[in-house]
Amino acid sequence: MSTPLQSLDIWKQLQKHFGDIHQQHMLDWFQQDKQRFDRFNLTAAGLTLDYSKNRITSETMDLLNQLAKKRNLPEQINALFKGELVNRSEKRPALHTALRNFSDRPIMVDGKDVMPEVRDTMSRMEEFCWKIRRKHWRGYTNKPFTDVVSIGIGGSFLGPKLASSALKPYNDSHINVHYLANIDGSHITEILKHLNPETTLFIVQSKSFGTQETLKNALACRQWFLDNGGVVNDLQKHFAAVSANVEKAVEFGIAEENIFPMWDWVGGRYSLWSAIGLPLAISIGIDNFRNMLRGAHEMDEHFRTAPMEKNMPVIMALLGVWYVNFFNINSQAILPYDHYLRGLPAHLQQLDMESSGKSVGIDGHKVDYHTGPIIWGGVGSNGQHAYHQLLHQGTHFSPSDFILPMRTHNPIDNFHAMLVSNALSQSQALLTGKSKEQALDECLKAGLNKQEAEELAAQKVIPGNRPSNTLYFPKSTPHSVGALIALYEHKVAAQGMLWGINSFDQWGVELGKDMGNNILAALEGEDFNATFDSSTNGLVDAYKTMQDQL
Ligand code: F6P
Repeated sequence: MSTPLQSLDIWKQLQKHFGDIHQQHMLDWFQQDKQRFDRFNLTAAGLTLDYSKNRITSETMDLLNQLAKKRNLPEQINALFKGELVNRSEKRPALHTALRNFSDRPIMVDGKDVMPEVRDTMSRMEEFCWKIRRKHWRGYTNKPFTDVVSIGIGGSFLGPKLASSALKPYNDSHINVHYLANIDGSHITEILKHLNPETTLFIVQSKSFGTQETLKNALACRQWFLDNGGVVNDLQKHFAAVSANVEKAVEFGIAEENIFPMWDWVGGRYSLWSAIGLPLAISIGIDNFRNMLRGAHEMDEHFRTAPMEKNMPVIMALLGVWYVNFFNINSQAILPYDHYLRGLPAHLQQLDMESSGKSVGIDGHKVDYHTGPIIWGGVGSNGQHAYHQLLHQGTHFSPSDFILPMRTHNPIDNFHAMLVSNALSQSQALLTGKSKEQALDECLKAGLNKQEAEELAAQKVIPGNRPSNTLYFPKSTPHSVGALIALYEHKVAAQGMLWGINSFDQWGVELGKDMGNNILAALEGEDFNATFDSSTNGLVDAYKTMQDQL
């Protein structure tokens, strides 16, 4: 990447274009172009993106597409799929797409086709799930498993947890899956207190098999098992693992045949598609799990082959750059209007913020422009009674992605029509707003006198012209959920390509972990020689003092 981003001629054209149009109102564009919805509408892998409620014109999209080509996105996308070392700082490829590669294309890593091993692991997953779901694999008192505890954090937790929730309607097993992540005695207590060690299977999910929270929880679950009737020789019946570090998993006491591989060319936040998805596959069955992979694969092929101007992840990435780098907005709301998809914002927080929360380019130089935004959100319509006030009347706006299955798994009365009407009306209100004249007219009609109406109307004005995407599809199924998650994986990767950052490492999380070890020693140590900053010293002291208080 030779020319610095902001020195590119196309960047300067975009800056000028921004100056020309940023004060125009989308409503006028809708008035002038009756085909706007059709013009800014795209379907891929069963998902449809309505991006007409964005602060863009056709000229905007033309310029943004020129930027994509100038930043060599077609070549960079090709490099990603070919397994080039795109994760430069760790000298690794990023080949989560191989995990769902249903084509007969080989995928080479270090000169070796990894597909045989990927397919072998999938077969092992299928057998593992089959034995548990069919009650062939039983506990130490020969009872079938009733509960699976998935022990993992970050990408070893958020992806499978999201997918388990999203695909709950497809859970046809007798197994209850629990996700244990946090280093908090209350979390593990709340999970174990309902479980029977005779019928509980633990899956330790850790690519490194070195994450403090996961190891601590795994050891505590092991001890709970031994304290409640299990013996060491029975551990192998009740523990499995998914890890790139097989040696450490064996050392923990897990039978090698119960350890599923992860590979260093799959990042944690991109690992749902690997054996990390085992808890999900146990719940919904391997066929539904495969259908989720197929949805992701279909989105992969779209991302890999579609021209920039018809490429959904690229369009979403370019819109993100348009808001971050030209409107100077560092926020992106994810608003799923579906109870089962309520975990999507949390997963996308890690996916996006751990990938794009970078301030140094892949070339090692500090970037002089903003990169990844803050990802937040929550399920609709709940959010309308929590944070939509800011979206409508705040001093800054946050682009919002409405995620909308058009059919529900649970048709009751007109619930779903009401839910959909909420999503569409929120998106419409962000677009139209409410003018001073409309607000004044409303207040006068409510019987207020002129002065009262003037005062209240000022508070009721809603600026509008606030952008949103609506991503819709017929129903939330394994295929559409797979395509949806893959869509955001590729949007994040495309934004990294535009910003020239490494979307696949996460060095920023190391410092806190290292400092934690010293502070833990201070918290637990008898004599504490306050060597930290005064805040940390004071907080360590407060912890010690308050241990004896109620
Ligand atoms: O947050 C840092 C991180 O390394 C994530 O990238 C990863 O998903 C998580 O911790 C868990 O890592 P592991 O799977 O190695 O336990």
